[in-house]
Amino acid sequence: MSDAESAPPYGSGPAAPAEPAKRIRTHHLQQAKDRGTRFAMLTAYDQYAAQIFDEAGIEVLLIGDSAANNVLGYETSLPITLDELIIFSRAVSSAARRALVVADLPFGSYEASPAQAIASSVRLMKEGRVHAVKMEGGAYYAETVRAMTAAGIPVMAHIGFTPQSEHVLGGYRVQGRGDAGQALVDDAVALAEAGAFAVLMEMVPAGVAAAVEAAVSVPTIGIGAGNATTGQVLVWQDMAGLRTGRMAKFVKQYADLHTVLSTAAKAYGEDVRNGSFPGPEHSF
Ligand code: KIV
Repeated sequence: MSDAESAPPYGSGPAAPAEPAKRIRTHHLQQAKDRGTRFAMLTAYDQYAAQIFDEAGIEVLLIGDSAANNVLGYETSLPITLDELIIFSRAVSSAARRALVVADLPFGSYEASPAQAIASSVRLMKEGRVHAVKMEGGAYYAETVRAMTAAGIPVMAHIGFTPQSEHVLGGYRVQGRGDAGQALVDDAVALAEAGAFAVLMEMVPAGVAAAVEAAVSVPTIGIGAGNATTGQVLVWQDMAGLRTGRMAKFVKQYADLHTVLSTAAKAYGEDVRNGSFPGPEHSF
């Protein structure tokens, strides 16, 4: 039997690693801040993206609740469920050998009480096999973060524009302008003191993000928060140009996957219609 004949027909899970990789842990992110270096974070929702980004050296992979908008086709991140995020988390965790894998606590899975936040996080860590969770919200959630951390759950805080609160915030708007900047600094300090290992800031003026980075001892991560944070994060479909249409100002597109896939699909369709695929080399 030839190699091609014995190859699995549809893929067979993550490829075996060439050599075991040293796992990135939360203290490595802290070291980056302490040493004045930076790290990169991308969202991932499936095994192939996770494997590619992991092998590319991206330090943190996030199973964001943005899977709602970027995988499931929902208009906002609000409808995605914990069960759905657990499935995406399991796929990413299985493929990521080196990256720290973090999953979002979706809307409705943590707000009611610290006990609810712990129970949801435990599911993400046990069933989704992630290493940490991310939770949206400010100083109000400091006690929740304290309880989660005490229970063995590493928490990444998410402040500034928090998409789960978009109906309270009045849509996609920059947060922390003017006097509200100090409130963001206070949020970050309260969450870091409660045990958050990192503070992510979304759509925050660069100067305010720099003030937050200076005010907390833990690393900060920015998305639309300027260049002073220790880490940066983007949604991978935005970064790689799979998604088209209006992009947020903070997005930089490093590829045009939309065109690559569209060109491939058109060529395949044409080959099938004109009878040139499959050829003898693809037939048994
Ligand atoms: O869900 C997500 O992808 C996020 C990032 C935008 C930070 O929270």
